[in-house]
Amino acid sequence: MSEISDQLIPWQKKFGRNNLPWQETINPYLIWISEVMLQQTQVKTVLPYYQKFITTFPNVKTLAMAHDDSVMRLWSGLGYYARARNLHASAKIIDSKFQGKFPTMFTDLLSLPGIGRSTAGAICSLAFNQKTPILDGNVKRVFTRVYGVKDWAGVTSVEKRLWEIAEKNLPETKFGKYNQALMDLGATVCIKNKPICLKCPINKSCKSFLYNWTDIIPAPKPKKEKLTKVSYFYIFQCESKFLFSKKPKKGIWGGLWSFLEFNEMLNVKQWVSKNLKTNNFSLLEKGVMTIVFTHYKLQMHYQHIELRDLKSQEIFPSGSWHDKGEIENGAYPTPVKKILKKFM
Ligand code: ADE
Repeated sequence: MSEISDQLIPWQKKFGRNNLPWQETINPYLIWISEVMLQQTQVKTVLPYYQKFITTFPNVKTLAMAHDDSVMRLWSGLGYYARARNLHASAKIIDSKFQGKFPTMFTDLLSLPGIGRSTAGAICSLAFNQKTPILDGNVKRVFTRVYGVKDWAGVTSVEKRLWEIAEKNLPETKFGKYNQALMDLGATVCIKNKPICLKCPINKSCKSFLYNWTDIIPAPKPKKEKLTKVSYFYIFQCESKFLFSKKPKKGIWGGLWSFLEFNEMLNVKQWVSKNLKTNNFSLLEKGVMTIVFTHYKLQMHYQHIELRDLKSQEIFPSGSWHDKGEIENGAYPTPVKKILKKFM
């Protein structure tokens, strides 16, 4: 038994959370539902959803037989909806492949959709008192602090080290109680901001307490510098109409109307002469607008061009001329509307 588990188990009995509904059972189905709900959601949010869910679907069979819609409706508002789809899919697998009997083997649980190593570990320890470690967000915070792990836990090598730490600290008995203690410690004492170290039963073993590292551990996820994509947009205007092309379905702004877009700056004179069959145009305002997407930035270089030859409106085949009156409520990306406003 490690020093950590020695301290934690009695602490949990006295100071842990002991009356949450899923703690009053060793029914693996109920524990599974609670663990999945608790994966990305706090206890107080989970409570009413859990009650409603288990009342409607009290066992694997009722969940396996349910309609998709009724499962999703009960999850509505809880977020991360893949969790509900996976629960439903897993219930069907348990019903068919495991003859409706909830699997008791760690590897069987791990094979089910939506059950990762930590959730499988939680179910096996809490429901069957098996010697399986857990490593959810709260527990990662406890172990990174205790061991002074300064690197971000999202890196595979760091995560591997944390699993080794979790494994080697397992006690010889009371696996469920110990894992519950770790989760409770992470959720109530070893909290992210201003941990209450003086109330911590394992502060004597904690490097971060000793060296005052609790502010820097756990390390935050490193911010990735976003790549910048540069595109050149040409805004052709002929009287009150502007020229647009429809973006392909896949990719940004899929299906919306945007300006003609090129990877490189155009030789405007050549391009206009070739594609719009006129030399009667003038180059107007130029500008740059940067749009930040989740994974990259788009630097939009734009150029407003006025065409004076009405026949240009009939010529360009892959474009479409829209009157400025249509644009306000149409299917255009916001930056496109914003740029256009300057010219209207
Ligand atoms: N978070 C994840 N599992 C939990 C549990 N069993 N009790 C409280 N919080 C949790």
